[in-house]
Amino acid sequence: MPLTEQTRAAAREIIARYPEGRSRSALLPMLHLVQSEQGAVTAEGVEFCAEELGITHAEVSAVATFYTMYKRRPVGDWLVSVCTNLSCLLRGGEEVYERLSKNLGVGHDQTTEDGTITLEHAECLAACDYAPVMTVNYEFYDQVNPDSAEEIVEALRRGERPAPTRGGPLCTFGESSFQLAGFEDPRPEGVAGQGVGTPSLAGVLLAEAAGWKAEDGVAGAPPLTPLPSNAPPSAASAPAAPASSSPASSSAAAPASPAPAPGTPGVPQTKVN
Ligand code: FES
Repeated sequence: MPLTEQTRAAAREIIARYPEGRSRSALLPMLHLVQSEQGAVTAEGVEFCAEELGITHAEVSAVATFYTMYKRRPVGDWLVSVCTNLSCLLRGGEEVYERLSKNLGVGHDQTTEDGTITLEHAECLAACDYAPVMTVNYEFYDQVNPDSAEEIVEALRRGERPAPTRGGPLCTFGESSFQLAGFEDPRPEGVAGQGVGTPSLAGVLLAEAAGWKAEDGVAGAPPLTPLPSNAPPSAASAPAAPASSSPASSSAAAPASPAPAPGTPGVPQTKVN
């Protein structure tokens, strides 16, 4: 099915945001845009992006297959991503995934028969402090367990939109893809929700209580040293060449430079930020 005139107009708006001759930089939002209408980056979407941006199909496909947020098969209204990476795995993420997979009757990257829910294993969702987490269309549900995750998904199947733990209210996959293409959420409540939560601040609060400061560096490490300068060495500091050496023989006979010791001026040191 051809892309709608609305999508084509949105594509022109995206491309106009980039300087002349740099339109290929619009590829990432363009891919989200075609995905917002078709639920995936289809062959037609690849062709559309290539033609609009003056690049090859291969260049578009290379990007679309590199990033996990671009889907090659149509996604349902609700993309349920369960993190099973290390922090979440240790706190029960795999059990959450297994429960949802069993109840929905689908595996990774598969969509339920009614076309509403797509399930996927996700790698770190950047919310390890709230592990185990799952997202629906990239909105967070923190510290879930198999029961609470099941309740969220059952609510979705009933046509409800359960409130995420953080951020604004849920959007469909098409709506969130349109926002990812760079268009505002038209709902006033779309930018509502709490900001940073207590688990995200735990490290900062601990450091404050202990009186740690970033500029103190790592306990026990050598003191920080200045970055090396690019300025040429002065005549006084440049090593003198042996008077009897020819250029060729001096380079062949030059001893290898010893590795600088830790703490030597000009050698960067590890620093905790
Ligand atoms: S490991 Fe799950 S959010 Fe980081």
